[in-house]
Amino acid sequence: MALYSLSIWFLLLLLRDNLFAARLEPYDSLYDSGVQAYYRGDWQSVILSMEKALLNRELLRRHRISCRIQCDRSTAGFTDLPLDWGPVQDLTFFQRLMDRAACLRRCEGEKIGAQSTYYLTGPELELEFTKRSPYNYLQVAYFKVHKINKAVAAAHTFYMANPDHMEMRQNLEYYKMMEGVKESDFRDLEAKPHMQEFRLGVRHYTDEESALCIPHFEKALEEYFIANLECRSLCDGPYDYDGYNYMDYNADLFQSITDHYVQVMNCRQSCVSELATQPGRDKPIEDFLPSHFNYLQFAYYSMENYTKAVECAKTYLLFFPDDEVMNQNLVYYTAVLGEQEASLISAREDIKAYIRRSLLEKELLYFAYDAFGIAFVDPDKWTPDTVIPTRLMEKQKAERETAARITEEIGNLMKEIENLVEEKSKESLDLSMGIREGGPVLFDDVSVVMNSKALNGSQRVVTDGVISEEECRELLRLTNKCNAKCFISIGFLFYVTAAAFAGDGYRGANSPHTPNEKFYGVTVLKALKLGQEAKVPLRSAYLYYNVTDKVRRLVESYFRLDKPLYFSYSHLVCRSAIDEKQEDRKDLSHPVHADNCILNAEANMCIKEHPAYTFRDYSAILYLNGDFEGGNFIFTELDAKTVTAEVRPQCGRMVGFSSGAENPHGVYAVTKGQRCAVALWFTLDPRHNERERVQADDLIKMLFSPEDTDLSSGKTKDTTDEGVQKATPSTHSDETGKITDAESITVQSSDSTLEHVLGPPLDSEVKTEL
Ligand SMILES: *[C@@H]1O[C@H](CO)[C@@H](O)[C@H](O)[C@H]1NC(C)=O
Ligand SMILES: *[C@@H]1O[C@H](CO)[C@@H](O)[C@H](O)[C@H]1NC(C)=O
Ligand SMILES: *[C@@H]1O[C@H](CO)[C@@H](O)[C@H](O)[C@H]1NC(C)=O
Repeated sequence: MALYSLSIWFLLLLLRDNLFAARLEPYDSLYDSGVQAYYRGDWQSVILSMEKALLNRELLRRHRISCRIQCDRSTAGFTDLPLDWGPVQDLTFFQRLMDRAACLRRCEGEKIGAQSTYYLTGPELELEFTKRSPYNYLQVAYFKVHKINKAVAAAHTFYMANPDHMEMRQNLEYYKMMEGVKESDFRDLEAKPHMQEFRLGVRHYTDEESALCIPHFEKALEEYFIANLECRSLCDGPYDYDGYNYMDYNADLFQSITDHYVQVMNCRQSCVSELATQPGRDKPIEDFLPSHFNYLQFAYYSMENYTKAVECAKTYLLFFPDDEVMNQNLVYYTAVLGEQEASLISAREDIKAYIRRSLLEKELLYFAYDAFGIAFVDPDKWTPDTVIPTRLMEKQKAERETAARITEEIGNLMKEIENLVEEKSKESLDLSMGIREGGPVLFDDVSVVMNSKALNGSQRVVTDGVISEEECRELLRLTNKCNAKCFISIGFLFYVTAAAFAGDGYRGANSPHTPNEKFYGVTVLKALKLGQEAKVPLRSAYLYYNVTDKVRRLVESYFRLDKPLYFSYSHLVCRSAIDEKQEDRKDLSHPVHADNCILNAEANMCIKEHPAYTFRDYSAILYLNGDFEGGNFIFTELDAKTVTAEVRPQCGRMVGFSSGAENPHGVYAVTKGQRCAVALWFTLDPRHNERERVQADDLIKMLFSPEDTDLSSGKTKDTTDEGVQKATPSTHSDETGKITDAESITVQSSDSTLEHVLGPPLDSEVKTEL
């Protein structure tokens, strides 16, 4: 009895708690408070607000999902009314809808304190969270309050989604060298279990460890279906009046239900792409779900588990029934296992159900496309043509042809215009290639060591004496050789702007460095700002500024340009071999590339189009030292293999060349020591004059105005070491955006992997034996 009343009392307590459930604090306002605290330098508050923002967003997501799944289950189940009841069926249908709506309202009210639609946020904020910006702020705050391990995890989490973010990369390098930081601290706090398992699976698979990869792929599938359920249930949101003014929206009952439901189904279908996308990538992994079975069938086969191999091959064939290789594999497995036994094994039930539902949705979506013109982009490649209405298919085909024709026409037009413009601007240049060099070097100490002829190419030059030994030393003081403290200031100075990391479209392109080397860089403006804060010698920064202009004038004069050269980007870069000495390094420190076109070595072509920096016309590299091993500069043919000339770096030596297809170049691996150089790119097009350079010009004017030429006075501008620079919208066009994620694995992107996946060799010997 006592127990009974106690539990009643407890129930009441629970009820009361629910009735007065505090509203979940909206995460947008928390995020906002976090950002504001950041600019006040109130690190504890940054941590409190940002952590809570992340938590509340996750809570909201969780509650939404659980309510939707719960209400879906509790109100599902068709009643067995006779078909000829007509409109009464509608009533029972809508009764179920209302039950479900009521269930949702109740559930969300209890869990969140209001309906979840109350928490709608703008797309900009969602983007911040997708880009994992809160971790960018958190990272600084944790660092400031000496929670280094948390800072490392936040930095890593942010970097995973922003692999082009140079400064965060530098921070991570810095953390790696810090005492007390463990490998295991570099955690991705937002990792999706299904993707993580998949990646582990592929890693083992690639290492030919079948026994190890199988559990990961199986687990990945399990997690995939959980994630899929969650992703789909989040689609049941409010109608998005995208493109409509909702005041003018006057669809009738069935049209509006259709509109909304089609939108929801579209969203559910797009879960395929969402689940297949890795953080920091634009494109989903193709055929993600089917590929699990492609890997698995081969892995099971390697383990001689033919039962499972048959099952997985059959499952894969559900998606691609005509896949030749998989059909051959199935024949092979069946033969080994015995026809009888193999015929009893069927494809996986959950995948059958998945495909059935997906096809039903696609059918409805295509119907809506055809009937109401509501666009649907199928995320899957395995959809059979029969699902698409013939009329729609014909219409689409016609549209595609028209679109292709228009694109082609526009393309031709653009090319014509481009050619005209280029002919105009390059006319004189192209005509006199080869003649157009050998101009005066302008400066007394500078001498030409090799011209195009000696360098076995065109528009190439090597000069010595561009700067003195002393100047080299002065410039080297800007590099990380100073000390860890100086380095951290470089790392921490600029990256904090949440909006500053729009990459430059180099995703997936070659990395400017290899995992074997550390890589640090600083631009002229950065150096000047650091100098201004007395974090590096201001004199060195000024010299850096002066030297870049000297090189610009030298290149302009030597190549006899009749128009001025403008800066496109300048960068002081050091590359260090990580170990004391690395035997057998075969990788290039900087892979062969051309500066203003995309090099396709296999095709012997260099294509001048985005995302290459097509506006770059001349390039120069000024070396600051030679006391390292490896690291020679090379020019190659278009094949990126045949080396035509090799240049040994040394202090004061400059390599200059035109940036086009005629000059593919690269750098051999640095095997010992540190190699430092100033890399410069120039353009003849004033529209591409670098914005950072203009800022640097202004800063120089400000710092060294005539009445204040005494250099020593510059550095007394006192700044406390404490203050991390408040986010200056950094405008640097990110040359460094070329970084690719060394850790990431490209699944199935290389043909060799695919070939490998495709199964056992069906050579004649095996066949006859069977
Ligand atoms: C094949 O793998 C499944 C699942 O791992 C296992 O249950 C089964 O015993 C295996 N069969 C053989 C013949 O190894
Ligand atoms: C940079 O050039 C200016 C103008 O030519 C000169 O006055 C100044 O001393 C130079 N600074 C350094 C550090 O070389
Ligand atoms: C140019 O080619 C010749 C002949 O192949 C070679 O001996 C020479 O070293 C090359 N020049 C440079 C600078 O590498």
